[in-house]
Amino acid sequence: MPCLFEYVLSKGKTPLMIKATNIRKKYGTLAVLKGVDLHIKKGEVVSIVGASGAGKTTLLQILGTLDVQSNKHDSNLLINDVEVTALSDKDLAKFRNEHIGFIFQFHQLLPEFTALENVCIPAFIKKTPKAETEKRAKELLDFLGLSQRYDHKPNALSGGEQQRVAVARALINNPSIIFADEPSGNLDSESADNLHKLFFELRDQFGQTFVIVTHNEYLADMADRKLTMVDGQIEKNNLVSDSQEASSS
Ligand SMILES: Nc1ncnc2c1ncn2[C@@H]1O[C@H](COP(=O)(O)OP(=O)(O)OP(=O)(O)O)[C@@H](O)[C@H]1O
Ligand SMILES: [Mg+2]
Repeated sequence: MPCLFEYVLSKGKTPLMIKATNIRKKYGTLAVLKGVDLHIKKGEVVSIVGASGAGKTTLLQILGTLDVQSNKHDSNLLINDVEVTALSDKDLAKFRNEHIGFIFQFHQLLPEFTALENVCIPAFIKKTPKAETEKRAKELLDFLGLSQRYDHKPNALSGGEQQRVAVARALINNPSIIFADEPSGNLDSESADNLHKLFFELRDQFGQTFVIVTHNEYLADMADRKLTMVDGQIEKNNLVSDSQEASSS
C-alpha cells in the first residue's frame, strides 16, 4: 500500500524543497556541471546515479551549500524558499546547521568522542541546551537500535553502527533535507539494506526530504524518483513533470 507521502507526492501539489536553476561548475577549463535544473519536492526521496566522474558529488555539495556554483550571477538555488547564494557566510553556516543534514560514504565521526557526543555536536553548535540535546540524541540512537552503544567511541563500533551514528548526527537538528553521498558504499549488504529501509522510515515518520547519490541500483530504484547524471547534466527524461506543476502553483 502506498504510504501517505507517496500519495501526497503523487498529487503533484507538494511545495518544493529545492529549486535549482542553471547550476554550472568549472574547475579551470573543465566544465563539470553544465547547467543543471532540478526541482525536488518536500518529503521526496530522490536518488542520483551516473558514471564515476559524471558530477554527482559536485552537484550534491553545491545543493548542500558546502560548495558554490561557478555562475552565481545567472543561476538560482532556493532551499525551502531561501535563495542560499545570497546569504552571508555566517548566515549560510547557520542555515546549513539548522536545515541540512549530511551523510557521507565515510561517516566522518570524530574518533575521540563517543557515539552520543558525536550525535550531539551539531546541536551544541546550534546552542541547544545540553539536557535537551542529550535527550534527543538518545531518542535517535534508540530509534536506530544503538541504545547499548551511547558510550562507545567510533573504533569500538561496527561499520553499520558507525553509519547509523552518522545518520543520528545528521538528524539531531531535525533538518528539512538530508543529502547522502554513497551512504552505504562501505557497508555489507545487510547493513546497507537496513540503512536504506531506515531512510524511508524516516521520511514516512518525520517527512524529511532525501537526496541520495548512490551506485547501489537497488537503493536507487527504491526512491520516488531516480535521476541519472550524464556528463554534467541530468538526463531530461528523468525530470518529473509535476514538479513543474508544484513550482507554478
Ligand atoms: N576540486 C576539484 N578540482 C578539479 N577537478 C575536480 C574537483 N572535484 C571534482 N573534480 C572533477 O570533476 C568531475 C566530477 O567529479 P565528482 O566527484 O562530482 O564525480 P562523481 O560523479 O561524484 O564520481 P564518483 O561516482 O566517482 O564519486 C571529475 O572529473 C573530477 O575529477
Ligand atoms: Mg562522488
